[in-house]
Amino acid sequence: MNDAIENWLSKLMEHLGDKSFVKLSLGNYKGLEAGLKNIYAKRVIIKREEKLSFTYRYQTKDITKNYAVDELPALLKTLIAEDGFRLANLFTVEHDYILELNHKGVWAMRTSKASHAEVPSLEHDKIKQRKISAEHKPYLHALNITDAEGQVYKNAQDKYKQINHYIEILSAHLKDLPERGMTNIVDMGAGKGYLTFALYDYLNGVLDRPCTITGVEYRKELVELCNGIAVQSGFERLHFVEGSIQSYQAEDIHVLIALHACDTATDDAIHQGIASNADLIVVAPCCHKQIRREMEKSKASSVLDPLMKHGIF
Ligand SMILES: C[S@@+](CC[C@H](N)C(=O)[O-])C[C@H]1O[C@@H](n2cnc3c(N)ncnc32)[C@H](O)[C@@H]1O
Repeated sequence: MNDAIENWLSKLMEHLGDKSFVKLSLGNYKGLEAGLKNIYAKRVIIKREEKLSFTYRYQTKDITKNYAVDELPALLKTLIAEDGFRLANLFTVEHDYILELNHKGVWAMRTSKASHAEVPSLEHDKIKQRKISAEHKPYLHALNITDAEGQVYKNAQDKYKQINHYIEILSAHLKDLPERGMTNIVDMGAGKGYLTFALYDYLNGVLDRPCTITGVEYRKELVELCNGIAVQSGFERLHFVEGSIQSYQAEDIHVLIALHACDTATDDAIHQGIASNADLIVVAPCCHKQIRREMEKSKASSVLDPLMKHGIF
């Protein structure tokens, strides 16, 4: 192993040990993984254990993976020396350490004045690790949940929480799904697609589990809006189709979702899920207009009954 890389790694472990570590980043990627641009890592506390949270930034998605401190030397050696990152920056409150493969193909480390004066607070990570982070998500911006920098709008906090809560509930069931090269999901009554986008992002981006998702929705303007955002986000296997749940021709559905679809549409969706032999059916009914109609009918007849008895009708 090259001395400069060893030196940089030992500085990393030293500064993690004395808590003067701020963050690290890997860049100038020349490896083979399509779309990978750079990696950022920060300290987090997960279940009282110190870890480094690595965000792998791709052209169209972020993937986050958490590693224990003792896994770091081997992991970083591979990422730097083998996988194709030619620049590694280590930021501490004492110095910045820049490790670079120079134009002669030789690794060298430079030390410069610290560009950060403070160690970041870990409070935020202790409070909540969100399944769907708000940063670098073009779809959350397009759906008016975050601004362009990934800050959740004040009036969208509830929606953002709902999305994360949904993914949290679903994640427990998703991990029990049979392993497949591709999981086909249909979201019936997808609406504006908040939950559909988040699920696609979570499965493909966070869990790295390939899936196709089709959103079925009978409002044309929502279908057009969502297809546009899917294209902008580079979500190639996410599509929305205009039509009714009842007439949707389902083929090979592994997961069927129908949340808050109107009237008897939930029943129709369940029927489609069973007919397709889906592994997982997730439904939450909405307004039961058909039951209300029945109740109204029986209310009306109970008002009319006494009148009829007296020969008025
Ligand atoms: C209340 S929204 C729910 C959206 C989303 N599933 C959610 O929970 O956030 C219900 C959506 O389902 C659509 N919808 C209701 N019944 C439907 C049906 N039978 N076929 C297709 N779309 C339907 C509506 O147009 C609406 O956009």
